[in-house]
Amino acid sequence: MTQPPPLRVSQPHVQMLCLAGFMGSGKTTVGTLLARQLAWRFVDLDDRIEEAAGLRIPGIFERLGEPAFRQIEADQLRAVLGRVVESKESIVLALGGGTYAQTGAPEFLRAAGVPVIWLDSPVEVLLARCMTMTGRPLFRDESSFRTLHAQRLPSYQQADYRVDSSGDPARVVAEVLRRGIVSTSSGEAHLVVEKPQP
Ligand code: S3P
Repeated sequence: MTQPPPLRVSQPHVQMLCLAGFMGSGKTTVGTLLARQLAWRFVDLDDRIEEAAGLRIPGIFERLGEPAFRQIEADQLRAVLGRVVESKESIVLALGGGTYAQTGAPEFLRAAGVPVIWLDSPVEVLLARCMTMTGRPLFRDESSFRTLHAQRLPSYQQADYRVDSSGDPARVVAEVLRRGIVSTSSGEAHLVVEKPQP
């Protein structure tokens, strides 16, 4: 992710918000609810990756390997940004757990003018959530999960906003709206330019 972005997303009437965070942080659940509240479209990057590869995520890891997965992930992130600019549709984008930890990803999204919210939960909460779910090739065992989480924290910390996502998803959405990260005062949703105080 080293080339400059093709276009800036933050133009009048073109709005986009990214949700970053580790596996189990609630990106898809919170993103779906948030998009519904804002009347924006919800896009899940993992779905875009699966569609592009014609394979489910475990299949991509198994057959093509993680480096190929990361390449498709980076390509699809660019493609989503390009489509937002073209379609002038406002979207909430849930990144994959590793997307924002890819080299250059925070810089890429910042240069494109896309605000990023880090959905942060204690690693114990993330572990408990992922234990009951399948389809995550990078969830192998507790020890490697904790190690990967610790390795990625410095990346997530580069997000524009941090919101605690350990509670009920509806409350997480309410907190995003309460913090004024997206202003909906005039009936139409607008991203605020200034970073609000935590
Ligand atoms: C990954 C997280 C997954 C998915 C892939 C790789 C990661 O997304 O992109 O399995 O590197 O942490 P979720 O965080 O939505 O599970």
